[in-house]
Amino acid sequence: MKINILTLFPEMFEPVIGGSILGRARKKGILEVNLINIRDFSQDKHKKADDYPFGGGVGMVMLADPVFRAMESINAQGKKALYMSPRGKVIDQDKIQQISKEEEIVILCGHYEGIDERILEYWNMEEVSIGDYVLTGGELPAMVLIDSVARFIPEVLAGEESAQEESIYSGLLEYPQYTKPREYRGMMVPEVLFNGNHKLIALWKYEKSLEMTRDRRPDLFQRYLKEHGDLSKE
Ligand code: ADE
Repeated sequence: MKINILTLFPEMFEPVIGGSILGRARKKGILEVNLINIRDFSQDKHKKADDYPFGGGVGMVMLADPVFRAMESINAQGKKALYMSPRGKVIDQDKIQQISKEEEIVILCGHYEGIDERILEYWNMEEVSIGDYVLTGGELPAMVLIDSVARFIPEVLAGEESAQEESIYSGLLEYPQYTKPREYRGMMVPEVLFNGNHKLIALWKYEKSLEMTRDRRPDLFQRYLKEHGDLSKE
């Protein structure tokens, strides 16, 4: 998969795309990240990329021209283009999975108070949000998006991690995990995890997942019940 990122702050992405899992995927050639500095496409002698909003109002608005030129430089016409924005629909795991199936995507990170609306219209951009809170720019949301999208690209994760996505656990919160030591400051690891009965252990994990989802995220629990039928009848 190829991800083109248009931003005024390309250096912000380095720690994330160079990091362990994404860095490995890029080395393996499974993932290509193309960072484009919008400022490089400004025709202005001061490399200006924003200006005051028509009609007044606070803050600055990103200029159409440098973004149009940046988009043209990557032949963005016809490619899936996303604009990170608190105005967009909040993305969930299904949406992430859908995006991960694209061969190539474009992500535009806004800054300041917004961008010239003609950019969104002309390039048919889909506005997406990572949650109902406002950040100072689209860079952190874009990093959240690419990290979660990468997990769905075949071979990015080790076998057993990705397999879990397909299992009965998808749609449920994860069961509690434990590691050594068996007793820590008087707190014990649940006995069932040592009995060697893999069926019983799997059942315990499944029950814990159900319990956690029911208590913490009743919305997800209801959806799970709808998709998997009434569990009490099994
Ligand atoms: N830019 C600023 N806030 C954002 C959010 N919540 N999601 C996506 N992009 C944003």
